[in-house]
Amino acid sequence: MKITGVKGMNDLLPAEVGRWQQMEATARELFGLYGYREVRTPVVEHHALFARGVGTDTDIVQKEMYAFEDKGEELLCLRPEGTAGVVRAFIEHGLHVEGPQKLYYLGPMFRRERPQKGRYRQFHQIGVEAFGTAEPAIDVEQIAMLDDYLARLGVKAALKLNSVGDAACRPAYLADLRAWLGERRAELCDDCNGRIERNPLRVLDCKVPTCQPVLARAPRLLERLCPACDAHHRAVTAGLDALGVAYAVDGRLVRGLDYYIRTAYEFSSDALGAQSAVAGGGRYDPLVETLGGPPTPGIGFALGQERLALILAAAGGPAPVRRPEVFFVSADEAGAREALVRAAELRRAGVACDLDARGGKLARQFKQAERVGARWAVVLGAAELASGQAKLKDLATREETPVALSALAARFAPAAR
Ligand code: HAM
Repeated sequence: MKITGVKGMNDLLPAEVGRWQQMEATARELFGLYGYREVRTPVVEHHALFARGVGTDTDIVQKEMYAFEDKGEELLCLRPEGTAGVVRAFIEHGLHVEGPQKLYYLGPMFRRERPQKGRYRQFHQIGVEAFGTAEPAIDVEQIAMLDDYLARLGVKAALKLNSVGDAACRPAYLADLRAWLGERRAELCDDCNGRIERNPLRVLDCKVPTCQPVLARAPRLLERLCPACDAHHRAVTAGLDALGVAYAVDGRLVRGLDYYIRTAYEFSSDALGAQSAVAGGGRYDPLVETLGGPPTPGIGFALGQERLALILAAAGGPAPVRRPEVFFVSADEAGAREALVRAAELRRAGVACDLDARGGKLARQFKQAERVGARWAVVLGAAELASGQAKLKDLATREETPVALSALAARFAPAAR
């Protein structure tokens, strides 16, 4: 029987991987410019971390966790997101004593969702978390960094921004919202009805067309923020204006995780279809304390790499691939031996090169050179070794020029070009 990959978990093949390396290299470079440092935490964590951190009422914890008992001893799970694990590590290693921290991470996350375009069961996030700064300046800087990141990759995405209030203003609003929605149960879908008591904010995010006109009239928390949340929100929008970051304030934006307070935001793209969010984040000031640490404000975001790859692919252009500069073709055994030595020499000089280790017919070796996209071919055989001269063939124009074997490395070394 043929064994296939697991549903919703994808292989990433060499033709695509260049795009991923590009997004990762850009993240490392840019986030470094903003003072973020990398952190790596395990893929497996205690189930309780996400139950307490992400929220027991969320879809993620209720329906989507890959949870398992480790030999009947502990309830563990594959991480569905990165924030809770980074917060756990932050607390466990006492990073708070060093003052504000800016951290970033990359890696696979797991949610047992129904797979569709842009939604998978194993997916990859690039995320950041900034701890220890309650001031709106960090919200502004972080959102601007994400905007900058997407611009560097040439991705056009629209930024929606909201404030989801805090413990001072949200409870009274939620009570009113529940009552308001309760009066309109008949007009709302079953999912909405199920959420009114449990998680009324999520009702606002319902995509069912018949619910839309009803929800468009629902009371907005944004209009009932307490003075502190209101001031914070205004400072964030003013900061984004000052940096020239375009955004739309959307009072209906809610996020799928329960830890957010105040700032919540998402970047979305039309290229994605139904799963339009390419990145999302927000402020989660109570989370460090909820997970047993000292009161420490926090704010972060995560980008979905599969979705980013879809947008980049839709924008056209093949994924970047590293092609060999030089391909050695051997005419005989002596040439094949020399090719290995010369290839090693060129690689030491930083020149990407390759050869067909099967040897054999010249035509097949040239075909392989073209298949891997080499720029130049050098034919080596007993005659070339005797004369110390070889032919350098330009595989694009087919032109041939003589080259001294002793000058090969210098001819192609990056500094010489
Ligand atoms: P999230 O909105 O759940 O937030 O996920 C962030 C991004 O991950 C989404 O915008 C999307 O691009 C991608 N994503 C989520 N689920 C899937 C899936 N099933 N398949 C493919 N891509 C997916 C968080 O995870 C928060 N931890 C973000 C954050 C960091 N908030 C504060 N700090």
